[in-house]
Amino acid sequence: MEKILVIGACGQIGVELTLALREKYGNENVIASDIREESEILKGTGPFVVLDAMDHEATRALVKKESITTIYLLAALLSVTGEKNPALCWGLNMGALRQILDLGIEEKLKIFWPSSIAVFGATTPQDNTPQKTIIEPTTMYGITKYAGELLCQYYNKRLGLDVRSVRYPGLISWKTEPGGGTTDYAVEIFYGALKEGKYTSFLSENTYLPMMYMDDAIAATLQIMEVSKEKIKIAMAYNLSAISFSPKEIAEAIKKQIPNFEISYAPDSRQAIADSWPQSIDDSSARADWGWKHEYDLSKMVDTMLKNLKEKLK
Ligand code: SER
Repeated sequence: MEKILVIGACGQIGVELTLALREKYGNENVIASDIREESEILKGTGPFVVLDAMDHEATRALVKKESITTIYLLAALLSVTGEKNPALCWGLNMGALRQILDLGIEEKLKIFWPSSIAVFGATTPQDNTPQKTIIEPTTMYGITKYAGELLCQYYNKRLGLDVRSVRYPGLISWKTEPGGGTTDYAVEIFYGALKEGKYTSFLSENTYLPMMYMDDAIAATLQIMEVSKEKIKIAMAYNLSAISFSPKEIAEAIKKQIPNFEISYAPDSRQAIADSWPQSIDDSSARADWGWKHEYDLSKMVDTMLKNLKEKLK
């Protein structure tokens, strides 16, 4: 029987992933943990433990006590926060991963660890970025993700650990808000549209970035973890893609429903990070190897976001 530990369960991905895992594997079999207090959305849905992802002994003790079989390690500092505190970004992102990989060997665990489009840098081809390409990240976050991918590959190939990973694009959700990322504008814009009828984008109007609605990201995560080991042919992280749009395009999609919505642009230091990332991603390996398929295009995502956020903000 699967007994799952989610580390970083109160973050943007963690909350929704925990709920999806609980639905699938049973509430009691999915332990949510975070250094923060329990998210309101998770309250009452299953066990929660306060855990610092860098506290190796506490993590090891919890894994043993609960006979954990699978870990989803989501605790991390993202691109913008990482540039503000590069030392903590490296310390947390790499420190937590390394200890979980070691614990994985010790306790024969199965592990999910997310990578990101942030592994790519300005020297990477930006359109339909291939799975295997030039990878020279320029943010500390991107560096930790690429180094992390190499570490996962090492533990997998050299030590036989079952660790799986995808390179998430920018993720968009109405349930949870992102924190400290370059793609965050694509969520903030909905709050601006519904609360004030306007939004000032910190990225310029024609900045295209790969994006994905959260339901698709969760589906991909469950899927890559469920398929048999033989189907996983890439021991680094899989490219994963759904939609690509610019601030101007998402604003136009929002205007179809809120005609008076106004967007303006005031690019800041986040623009340079966005400019170094791909505009679109080739994820044909994920589609061929384990059957990945996205469901949400730009208009379905915008409709779903506006409908649900309207209710939430009432
Ligand atoms: N959404 C992340 C960020 O913007 C990318 O992985 O930092």
